[in-house]
Amino acid sequence: MARVDYKCLPDMGKARNRVFSPKTIREEIVVPNEVKDFAKGRKYAIVTFGCQANVRDEEIMGGYLELAGFVKAIDPSEGDIVIINTCAVRENAEEKVYGEIGRYKAKSLSDKNFVLCVCGCMMQEENVAKKIMGSYPYVNIIFGTHNIHKLLDLLGEHLARKKDLVDIMSFQGDIIENLPSTRLDEYKAYVNITYGCDKFCTYCIVPYTRGRERSRAREDIVKECKELVGQGYQEITLLGQNVNSYGKDFKDGTSFATILREVAELGVPRLRFMTSHPWDFSDEMIEVIAKYKNIMPAIHLPVQSGATSMLKRMNRRYSREEYLTLVKKLRDAIPGVALTTDIIVGFPNETEEEFQETLSLAREVKYNAAFTFIYSPRKGTPAAKLVDNVDDVTKHRRFDELLKVIEEGVTYHSSKMIGKDYSVLVDGPSKKDKSMLSGYTETGKLIHFQGPSYLKGSIVRVKVVEDHAFSMKGELLDDPILVLAKKAKAYLDKEEVVIRYKEYKNQVDSSSEIKALRNEIEESQRKMVTLASSGQGDEAAKEKRRYDELMAAYQNNPLVLNLKSASEELENLLLEVEGYFS
Ligand code: SAH
Ligand code: SF4
Ligand code: F3S
Repeated sequence: MARVDYKCLPDMGKARNRVFSPKTIREEIVVPNEVKDFAKGRKYAIVTFGCQANVRDEEIMGGYLELAGFVKAIDPSEGDIVIINTCAVRENAEEKVYGEIGRYKAKSLSDKNFVLCVCGCMMQEENVAKKIMGSYPYVNIIFGTHNIHKLLDLLGEHLARKKDLVDIMSFQGDIIENLPSTRLDEYKAYVNITYGCDKFCTYCIVPYTRGRERSRAREDIVKECKELVGQGYQEITLLGQNVNSYGKDFKDGTSFATILREVAELGVPRLRFMTSHPWDFSDEMIEVIAKYKNIMPAIHLPVQSGATSMLKRMNRRYSREEYLTLVKKLRDAIPGVALTTDIIVGFPNETEEEFQETLSLAREVKYNAAFTFIYSPRKGTPAAKLVDNVDDVTKHRRFDELLKVIEEGVTYHSSKMIGKDYSVLVDGPSKKDKSMLSGYTETGKLIHFQGPSYLKGSIVRVKVVEDHAFSMKGELLDDPILVLAKKAKAYLDKEEVVIRYKEYKNQVDSSSEIKALRNEIEESQRKMVTLASSGQGDEAAKEKRRYDELMAAYQNNPLVLNLKSASEELENLLLEVEGYFS
């Protein structure tokens, strides 16, 4: 009997010629019983390669696994189920994946209950899943980018049938809502706005691995962002392979500007978005970015090449001149905007002139940062069929030259930061030096500075004192205690106990019945004193009885009782806060 059940395999031809129209699916999540039993006391780990789309998928898969009862492992080696979430964008991304799969061989052989899954973009390529199942026979489940919501069903089937499974679809993909998710960061969140890509740049595999472009409904995006704001998230990044084409598929005038405006108005302190495609960047989008202070002045605007002839061969749909015009418009409309980019060198038959045009464009734009890549042929894409006349030595030489020009741009901007102060969202202790904090400016520049770790998640003012080109050293300008107090106030303002207390207090203070009772109590008190001091003992005792009755009526008044219990709750909460400091 075959070890592996190949339920569905990818087909790059089908991936290109997709015909269905996407549906929004809102299924209730049912955890199969086998999975529930298996998850008890077991841990999961997800190892993610690639871009933010994969990071967001990791959060969703984590959501499913936690819903089933698994607990997150601190280190992947402790996982009873491990999912390797792959990227296919370049060959070196794929090589890393094979190395990672190999790391779990010993564990799989020694623990028969261990489950190893592989998913993500690389699985959407033809023959990859078969190759993995052949060369790494300890892999148990392989699925693709379109069926991560079937994770628990696939796991249940694997456990019930004791079979290894491969299930990968090549279709344009549906939009799945009601997705569970365990966010990887407490203060910064990714929100998908589009899935897939329709651009078909000739070098790129993403449209084949992620399906045809489809936009999430506005209401679903806004609902998710609203929840994040309510939970205290400080930064939201709207995600899509090409965010600027958001809403085109609705054909009702909805655009990226529409959703950007709507999310900005929810009041999240920092709003970012990526990736922008120059071709779809409209004037209205620029206006919205310029108008809202909480939309960060940082735009990732991949250019790929500085030569119009090359851009044509890449199917990028804009010329060098059009790109530079857009850069000018952005810089004019959004003062201090940071521009970052992606550039590919060594695309088949790149001439020296074309490469020089890329260099001159990078010199002219002076990017704040750039990701540079050597072209890597991706099977199934149009460019992979081209015969290339450029040798590897030339490609590497060009790559090194480009890096130098990019560095010039980076230092041009960083050197101007010295002595100025910036608002920084604190990520927490710096990765390199735990005694320092690190965070990003509004324009996306990394800054390290000294400060207490409780500043994590706060936005603080930092003065830049040293320029290290790719990161800066700074000094905290704010008083950390005051930052903490502000945070505590914001936290208390949102606490239900505080809200309840304020509401009951308001009801008590504005009740005429209670006001009258209070007046009567005061008057009775005065009377008692007068009667007692003038020796009228009996009358005073009578008044005391009246006073006790009034007090009982006051204390048993439902509004007063509500306030009393709310103030006890509030007192407990404040004692907890006090305990935090002592
Ligand atoms: N949707 C995004 C991200 C695409 S992948 C965008 O359009 O920018 C991220 C980057 O990888 C691309 O911008 C491109 O510069 C690079 N890339 C994609 N395919 C590549 C390939 N075959 N070889 C080298 N770099 C590639
Ligand atoms: Fe790939 Fe081009 Fe789509 Fe970006 S826009 S994902 S580079 S096809
Ligand atoms: Fe890689 Fe897929 Fe992202 S190929 S770059 S993980 S969309």
